[in-house]
Amino acid sequence: MGRRGRRRDDDDSQSGVGRCGGVPFRHTYGLIELRKYFDSFRLVAVCDRNESAAEHVAGVAERELGERPAVFDDFDTMLSAVDSLDAVDVAADTASHHTIAEAALRAGLHVIVEKPMGVTLKACRRMYGAAAAAGRTLAIAENYRRDPLCRLAKALLDAGVIGEPRLALDVSVGGGDALMHNTSWRALRSRGGGFILEQGVHNADLLLYYLGEVESVFAETSVLEKTLRRRGISADLQSFYSHRADDVFSTSETIEADAVDTGVAVMKFRSGAVCQLTMSRTSPGSHTSLATVHGSLGTMVMPASRSGIGPTVMLEGREPLRGEALLELVPDMTLDEPTAAHFGGSRPIASYGMSFEEVDRALVAIELEDFARAIRTGRRPEVDQEAGMRAVALVYAVLESGETGVPVKLRDVMDGTVAEYQRSVDEENDI
Ligand SMILES: NC(=O)c1ccc[n+]([C@@H]2O[C@H](COP(=O)([O-])OP(=O)(O)OC[C@H]3O[C@@H](n4cnc5c(N)ncnc54)[C@H](O)[C@@H]3O)[C@@H](O)[C@H]2O)c1
Repeated sequence: MGRRGRRRDDDDSQSGVGRCGGVPFRHTYGLIELRKYFDSFRLVAVCDRNESAAEHVAGVAERELGERPAVFDDFDTMLSAVDSLDAVDVAADTASHHTIAEAALRAGLHVIVEKPMGVTLKACRRMYGAAAAAGRTLAIAENYRRDPLCRLAKALLDAGVIGEPRLALDVSVGGGDALMHNTSWRALRSRGGGFILEQGVHNADLLLYYLGEVESVFAETSVLEKTLRRRGISADLQSFYSHRADDVFSTSETIEADAVDTGVAVMKFRSGAVCQLTMSRTSPGSHTSLATVHGSLGTMVMPASRSGIGPTVMLEGREPLRGEALLELVPDMTLDEPTAAHFGGSRPIASYGMSFEEVDRALVAIELEDFARAIRTGRRPEVDQEAGMRAVALVYAVLESGETGVPVKLRDVMDGTVAEYQRSVDEENDI
């Protein structure tokens, strides 16, 4: 996204660009939601190599925002054709993030890019270098932590309500042989697929947000579900994904997966806390989901982002604390202005009753507004290239340890000393 109708060095931000698969469409709805409260962007062009997807999104933008963005099926063509562009919202599939972001940054545009920041750490480092060289903002569209219930959990942890965090358990097991969102790239290692990277990067961001830096990781990983199928899309996501075209599933009902789908990891934080992270999308039985932080004074059951259900705190000898009782423990907490606008005021909340679509749009709107304010003021966006890279590094620490069978230091993954799993991904993408 960016500033339209102005020179690229102006200090105001009023335009944007989307792209148009599933998440690009969600970002357009986020922009529509943002416009209710803040007039930060104008959507001047959309680009998808599948032009019909871009046309579909342009139609929705025209109806809801009152202006039809120009449609392109080639990013470089868009860059040279639209001289009013100031920023780009990159929500193409993961293996494309770095090439699109680098081209945009080199052209002097600000960039917000979907998570995971890049398909490997090498891709992330290239993006980092391009942003530094261009002196432009690079933000990561990490939405989970922006849920006001995750903000409440963080405030409670920081206030020491459960004492010193000692242990975290983070378990997410479910799925089967159906591919997430019917997107074939999610099966393929070279395209940034696999549950551990695609979904685990959200877990990684939240763990780092809540508990601070990670020192080391040991993991066992596998590809357990080798043939993945095209299936129906969940009702929540129908409206976002029904228009997209898939490059594999247009001719086949199955795809052979090579990206890791299962990981069991143990990680040690700089604080001394330890975490057990277990993720798999290969269990067709009941879904098992658990996220807890155990401290020296008590336990917190962590909120699932976008669920509307806030944290629960258990202290020895007391009834579990929920809702208003938790707000009383952080009397000085307030929600920032963009969050307050979308969630009914600056007073923190401990639950909400919005539909998935409503909360999803609100969180995208909040991350876009953070991006706009970073551009306008020159401050860093909340999830900047450092934070984006650290989350990718934590996920790759799991995958690298699983590949080599030995514990890895996070800093070695960050700087590329450990990169066995990523090597073929870098080679296939010419990174
Ligand atoms: N934050 C979240 O909650 C969340 C949720 C799902 C996906 N994502 C991320 O969003 C990104 C997109 O995921 P998706 O599910 O929308 O995938 P998708 O396949 O539905 O959409 C990606 C679109 O990008 C287009 N595209 C790919 N490369 C392109 C290029 N070089 N030029 C122009 N168009 C190009 C494709 O044609 C496709 O329409 C991924 O990085 C994914 O990890 C984030």
